[in-house]
Amino acid sequence: MTDSNHKKSLTTNTGAPVGDNQNSITAGSRGPVLMQDVHLVEKLAHFNRERVPERVVHAKGGGAHGYFEVTNDVTKWTKAKFLSKVGKRTPVLARFSTVAGEKGSADTERDPRGFALKFYTEDGNYDLVGNNTPVFFIRDAIKFPDFIHTQKRHPATNCKDPNAVWDFFSLSPESLHQVTILFSDRGIPRTWRHMHGYGSHTFKWTNEDGESVWVKYHFKTEQGIENLTAEEAKKIAGEDPDYATRDLYQSIEKGDYPAWTLYVQIMPLEDAEHYKFDPFDVTKVWSQKDYPLIEVGRMVLNKNPENYFAEIEQAAFSPATIVPGIDFSPDKMLQGRLFAYNDAHRYRIGTNYQLLPVNRPLNDINNYQRDGAMRFDSNGGASGNYEPNSFNGPKEVPDAVQAPLPVSGVAESAAYDRNDHYTQPGDLYRLLSEEERSRLAANIVDAMRPVKKDIQLRQIEHFRKADPEYGERVAEGLGISVNTGKQT
Ligand code: HEM
Repeated sequence: MTDSNHKKSLTTNTGAPVGDNQNSITAGSRGPVLMQDVHLVEKLAHFNRERVPERVVHAKGGGAHGYFEVTNDVTKWTKAKFLSKVGKRTPVLARFSTVAGEKGSADTERDPRGFALKFYTEDGNYDLVGNNTPVFFIRDAIKFPDFIHTQKRHPATNCKDPNAVWDFFSLSPESLHQVTILFSDRGIPRTWRHMHGYGSHTFKWTNEDGESVWVKYHFKTEQGIENLTAEEAKKIAGEDPDYATRDLYQSIEKGDYPAWTLYVQIMPLEDAEHYKFDPFDVTKVWSQKDYPLIEVGRMVLNKNPENYFAEIEQAAFSPATIVPGIDFSPDKMLQGRLFAYNDAHRYRIGTNYQLLPVNRPLNDINNYQRDGAMRFDSNGGASGNYEPNSFNGPKEVPDAVQAPLPVSGVAESAAYDRNDHYTQPGDLYRLLSEEERSRLAANIVDAMRPVKKDIQLRQIEHFRKADPEYGERVAEGLGISVNTGKQT
């Protein structure tokens, strides 16, 4: 609504002009406030409902818009339309985050960084919800709630609990690879711009002829890798807990657009049968000698959100959001995630979260789902709400079915059948320089110092199995003799 000067008039949510936004209606100038001040009541009530629940993990984050441009022909592996032509551009939304902290926590915590992307393709949205690490702490979704509980607050003290963290790690040796990355220099990226991103899981690509391959994604930062030391990170956490949030926003504001080059590793389907470890195990990386990086394209972030809540807090990323040409793998973690995210969104932002502008695909949504809380589009209008129908309603697209996955065996609670949790963390340790090894050990020692002795000893054994020197350095830092297990 505008007045004669074309200024906007203040209105209620029902559109009525507001006469007074400074003074409540009272009974006499000093009297009590009247119920009939409906503008006041509505204003207070809406304010009480301003928060949606924060994400149960990855609550603190920031993001931006941009585009993805294809730079290399990958059509022999995938029919995904947004990857169909060199030079093709697709709008993208990115959200970066820390994992364990609450919405107000510091950006410079030692924690993996989320690297969540939404590609708005002509075949619907494609989400790639990854991290800045190529592996994860666990490899079966059934352990995820327990793992996250150890990263959050103790039930009694409501403080972070190093005993829980290291108890879980030491009883879950599959975590060793990710633990080694987390306590290395890469455990605290300087900013979100200065880190790589990974899909982490194995996915499947399928081409126009129905031929499939396994694929892993690597987004390499064009800004270069830069990290914070533990001391720098602690200082910044006190002085500017929103350091990475501000950095991303300001870089984009001044036209310094961050960019990443996307590479993939491609594995022929049959290799998965006999590769040296299970290629679907998300605690492992595939050797780049066996499966070299192949360039695909470039992501550039060049537009800040105009409204953080609308475009970032309400953004709903999900590994289940795929497009034809891209499918899932049998990775046990990925399979669990296919349920978890959409369920989280329905709880956090409601049944019709996919209709929110930031989550809507660019193409039309045509289906027979109707109604539900906060259905704020035309809800299908007068068109039919069932299928099949003889009224020319939307029809299936047979080409869009998921690629077939041959399976065999019996249904049971099955672990991955290969359990080498030590070779890859050991290899990573041996790749580090002397200074890097010493910082890694010092970071671990700092974190493990408050932990109970039996847990320390159990975890040191894992480090030792990865590389004897690795274990000895940590033991020495904790003042423990590796031979006797006694305090030195
Ligand atoms: C966020 C579950 C493993 C990356 C979330 C959320 C849930 C969740 C419930 C909050 C979603 C929301 O409210 O918007 C799980 C489960 C996992 C798992 C059950 C294992 C079974 C992983 C792994 C990665 C990952 C392995 C990376 C490779 C992320 C990211 C976000 C997130 C980046 C934040 C997305 C955003 O920016 O909105 N996860 N997660 N998660 N998860 Fe996971």
